[in-house]
Amino acid sequence: MPVNALFKPFHLGHLQLPSRVVMAPMTRSFSPGGVPNSKVIEYYRRRAAAGVGLIITEGTTVNHKASNGYPNVPQFFGEAPLAGWKKVVDAVHAEGGKIVPQLWHVGSVRRVGTEPDASVPGYGPTEKLKDGQVVVHGMSKQDIQDVIGAFAQAARDAKAIGMDGVEIHGAHGYLVDQFFWEGTNQRTDEYGGDLAGRSRFAIELIQAVRAAVGPDFPIIFRFSQWKQQDYSARLVQTPEALGEFLKPLSDAGVDIFHCSTRRFWEPEFDGSDLNLAGWTRKLTGKPTITVGSVGLDGEFLQFMVNTDKIAQPASLDNLLQRLNNDEFDLVAVGRALLVDPDWAVKVRDGREQDILPFSRDALMTLV
Ligand SMILES: Cc1cc2nc3c(=O)[nH]c(=O)nc-3n(C[C@H](O)[C@H](O)[C@H](O)COP(=O)(O)O)c2cc1C
Repeated sequence: MPVNALFKPFHLGHLQLPSRVVMAPMTRSFSPGGVPNSKVIEYYRRRAAAGVGLIITEGTTVNHKASNGYPNVPQFFGEAPLAGWKKVVDAVHAEGGKIVPQLWHVGSVRRVGTEPDASVPGYGPTEKLKDGQVVVHGMSKQDIQDVIGAFAQAARDAKAIGMDGVEIHGAHGYLVDQFFWEGTNQRTDEYGGDLAGRSRFAIELIQAVRAAVGPDFPIIFRFSQWKQQDYSARLVQTPEALGEFLKPLSDAGVDIFHCSTRRFWEPEFDGSDLNLAGWTRKLTGKPTITVGSVGLDGEFLQFMVNTDKIAQPASLDNLLQRLNNDEFDLVAVGRALLVDPDWAVKVRDGREQDILPFSRDALMTLV
């Protein structure tokens, strides 16, 4: 099947992408001290030079003491980390690419002992105790305002260093999603209750980011039904409920929804072939990004545990058909681009036989 649909430009206001291929955000843990270094700069530059239209960086933490959950994750605050990101931006732009940071707070996933301040526990919507010790600090309204302020400042900084937009990480069971999900949000104040109440945190956060960056700076919002704590969890069960969930987020200032699924070809609801990105586009009228096992024959969570499995390159026909039908606008590619910086140009130039398979070994180095 012709692949041109993937290599048509995309326009949204001032954002002009040379192709529909988006690099999915992937934590790589190669930024000691929270600073993206020359290897990280080169890693992103290579993808921009090889057909990727938009890079969404790995999750990068906002300026709050509990935002980080893992070693060697880059920060999106402080002089040295922002100077590092500025070099990444300049390198990507020099290749004609576009880039946005994925702004991240891990919430209750954080454990005591994690950098930068080992004494700080996870922060989440609801307090959690274990053996009399606070393992998750239940967030006060002041904590909520502090985190919202940290996201807004990060977005302001993104704009100041020349990023092309921001992505807010609202998916996968991290902080924003912990507020959405009833399994992790048992608050009785206005930030809890039904899904509308549990969405208040995200809505205020998006509004604050929008106010910080002005009307023309793209805001991408990533969300998912699945949680890393429960792969079968769902926020909504019907298209109507999805529409009700998305409307206030869309009205708050989201420009593009990034609909995270593990397999892009799976219908989201019975009775229609549309996937989550398809339904989201239809219900909100906003552009969407699809993601999940594009170009590979095994889904990514199988590869996050110890395994010697290898994901082999797979046909793009189903994806191209959906893209040609305008089911979604953009296509995020994770592992295939992690292991092979030239994935997009190989697809574009019909060099499928040269595409590299993915195995966990690829996580050990930045290429
Ligand atoms: C090593 C690795 C790290 C990831 N880190 C993040 C992350 O920081 N933020 C995020 O939203 N998703 C993250 N993901 C999920 C990817 O963005 C993507 O949704 C997932 O890999 C499915 O796409 P794929 O099947 O093309 O790999 C990560 C995935 C991998 C493989």
